[in-house]
Amino acid sequence: MPGTCVIGLQWGDEAKGKLVDLLTPGVEVVVRYQGGANAGHTVVTGKDVYKLHHIPSGILHEGVMNIVSTGVVINPKTILEEIDGLQDRGVPVEDRLMISDRAHVVFPWHIAEDRVLNARLVGGESIGTTLRGIGPCYRDKVGRSLAIRLGDMLRDDFPDRVHQVVAAKRQILEGIGDLEPGELDADQIVEQYSDHARRLQSFISDSTAYLLDAVEQDRRILYEGAQGSLLDIDHGTYPFVTSSNSSGVGIPAGAGVPPRWITKVLGVIKSYSTRVGGGPFPTEQENATGEQIRELGKEYGTTTGRPRRCGWLDAVAVRYAVRLGGVNALSLMLLDVLSQLPEIKICVAYELDGERIDYFPSHAEDLRSVTPVYETFEGWQQDVTGARSMEDLPAGAHDYLARVTELVGCPVEVVSVGPDREQTIFVSGNPLAVSS
Ligand code: GDP
Ligand code: IMO
Ligand code: MG
Repeated sequence: MPGTCVIGLQWGDEAKGKLVDLLTPGVEVVVRYQGGANAGHTVVTGKDVYKLHHIPSGILHEGVMNIVSTGVVINPKTILEEIDGLQDRGVPVEDRLMISDRAHVVFPWHIAEDRVLNARLVGGESIGTTLRGIGPCYRDKVGRSLAIRLGDMLRDDFPDRVHQVVAAKRQILEGIGDLEPGELDADQIVEQYSDHARRLQSFISDSTAYLLDAVEQDRRILYEGAQGSLLDIDHGTYPFVTSSNSSGVGIPAGAGVPPRWITKVLGVIKSYSTRVGGGPFPTEQENATGEQIRELGKEYGTTTGRPRRCGWLDAVAVRYAVRLGGVNALSLMLLDVLSQLPEIKICVAYELDGERIDYFPSHAEDLRSVTPVYETFEGWQQDVTGARSMEDLPAGAHDYLARVTELVGCPVEVVSVGPDREQTIFVSGNPLAVSS
């Protein structure tokens, strides 16, 4: 049976949450496999709006197991708030959620380190992280000696371990001169985190074993990426990236499932581009057009509330992400936002040092110095929020979608024309079906 992935092909916030919720009725398991509380995935069902940070966007559906797998870094307090918030709204999370015992835990020292390091400039600019402790937690995971996993919190030596790590972290943070008075009290952390662990205990399990059984039993699985391919730690706009593999290459490692079980990759894009935080963004519009897109698309961060930087669709960047992720098909979101603009542009190539290039440069400084080459379309300026089939879309929108397909080398299988579940067009049948 197919294992389908939903990954973002830009710098995050492509509306992955909406797509995952829509596809969940066709699967038995949904897996979040990287990132942590830096993610903010929105699901809208009529008047209800759900904002999820760790919990997979399949959680609203009965009979589906939602797994937060090994590759995710977990803030226990935040995930408990998510669980409580869903339970208060009548979602029986207890029957539907599993969290990996191997997942690493974000502690207050990670958040303190994120604060201190994010204030330092890299290449003249702050990375502009979400300040959720993500980078420092992944760094400790790779470094091993100061890391604590979720399963470790249930063991007898957990208090000793916290005391050891706090002693080391105090030295590190005092060394970089930014430990606030009273910050990192080991006894308090042990007490709070032991309480969190008790409350999370019934959800904690060996998700790797569960998923290996699931693939061997031919169960249908949907993998939900966080962030976007251009924020990938290895292949994104380094160092202005997140600290995990948020492109297609991260799925097997983060989930613990061999690549041969992944049979379809759906790439999600907006009909334009956004970015939150620092880093190069060739098609950014720091002008009235950018502001118009921000207001029309309500482009403010789901996790931090920061205004998102806005600009035109960058087909060079998306084509790169499509190839990197082995993407079979696109889901193009927020088409309704473009529908209000008099003129629409797509970046089809870059100019670098006077030469036209069609590849995505590997160095952030080169990407910063490119000039986008645009194709311009006349806007169709017709409300598409009520469109439910391709026939309902104006000719201008058809032309735009056809050109995107051509430029990025991938068919569009889903078009979204508003935040609600109903505001969706399935272009060619079931997107879970494996395409060639
Ligand atoms: P994610 O992180 O990729 O899940 O995306 P976010 O939830 O952070 O941001 C996407 C935002 O766009 C959310 O507020 C969604 O409710 C909203 N949204 C999703 N699809 C559409 C669409 O087709 N049109 C409009 N106008 N908004 C959409
Ligand atoms: P979802 O899953 C958009 C960005 C931050 C910053 C960089 C590093 O909702 O698409 P981090 O806190 O991860 O160390 O920050 O990555 N970033 C996101 N941008 N959507 C996200 O998640 C993001 N998660 C991190 O703004 O530029
Ligand atoms: Mg988001």
